[in-house]
Amino acid sequence: MDLIKNLQWRYAVKKYSDESVNEDKIDQIIEAINLSASSCGIQPYRLFVITNPEIRQRLGEGSFNAQIHASSHLLVFAGFNKITNDYITDYVEMMEQQRDMENGALNLLKDTLIDYFSTQTPEQNAIWSSKQAYIGLGTALIAAAELKVDSTPMEGFDPKLFDEVLGLSEKGLHASVILSLGYRDSDNDYLASVPKARLPINEFSTKII
Ligand SMILES: Cc1cc2nc3c(=O)[nH]c(=O)nc-3n(C[C@H](O)[C@H](O)[C@H](O)COP(=O)(O)O)c2cc1C
Repeated sequence: MDLIKNLQWRYAVKKYSDESVNEDKIDQIIEAINLSASSCGIQPYRLFVITNPEIRQRLGEGSFNAQIHASSHLLVFAGFNKITNDYITDYVEMMEQQRDMENGALNLLKDTLIDYFSTQTPEQNAIWSSKQAYIGLGTALIAAAELKVDSTPMEGFDPKLFDEVLGLSEKGLHASVILSLGYRDSDNDYLASVPKARLPINEFSTKII
């Protein structure tokens, strides 16, 4: 399977070349992320795709990750702070329309979700949303590898600074995790030629039959 080869090829790049990733590939990665599974299926995060150099310079301030500004694109996965009744209502209505169902056909789903999320604290909502955002991150890593686009997933950033620079709080969002995209600078990235370190499969996984 090519996927395994591509996953062996990918690594978390430390140093990028100046080459840009074309927008067609970026759009395919965005589409793959949008197709990710999410718990309850309500996609409780949003994606920001940033190329603006000044904004990226600001976002990288104080971080050890130069890849925040020194790469082709920066993706920010931003989880919801709260799952509101309005959001659930609108999302379920969209599902009904996309599936050619009558208005109200998914009321049971809507009411169940509204009941469930009303029992959760805002903190629980935010943690749950971030978990869903990480599933999107996983998809992005795989999609990028399939397109032979390099990437670096990162938690080494200042979420408060991201909130401030991108105005996330006003949008009811918080920065969960970020991903840079670009092309490796093989001559200057010490990790480019280092073999992958992974557990033996039998130690990592157990088949119970
Ligand atoms: C959620 C997450 C956060 C990470 N944060 C950083 C980071 O801030 N900076 C960095 O250089 N690498 C970061 N990494 C990359 C990991 O160190 C890397 O994936 C791991 O060492 C395995 O190596 P590989 O991805 O090259 O196979 C992160 C990876 C993940 C999945």
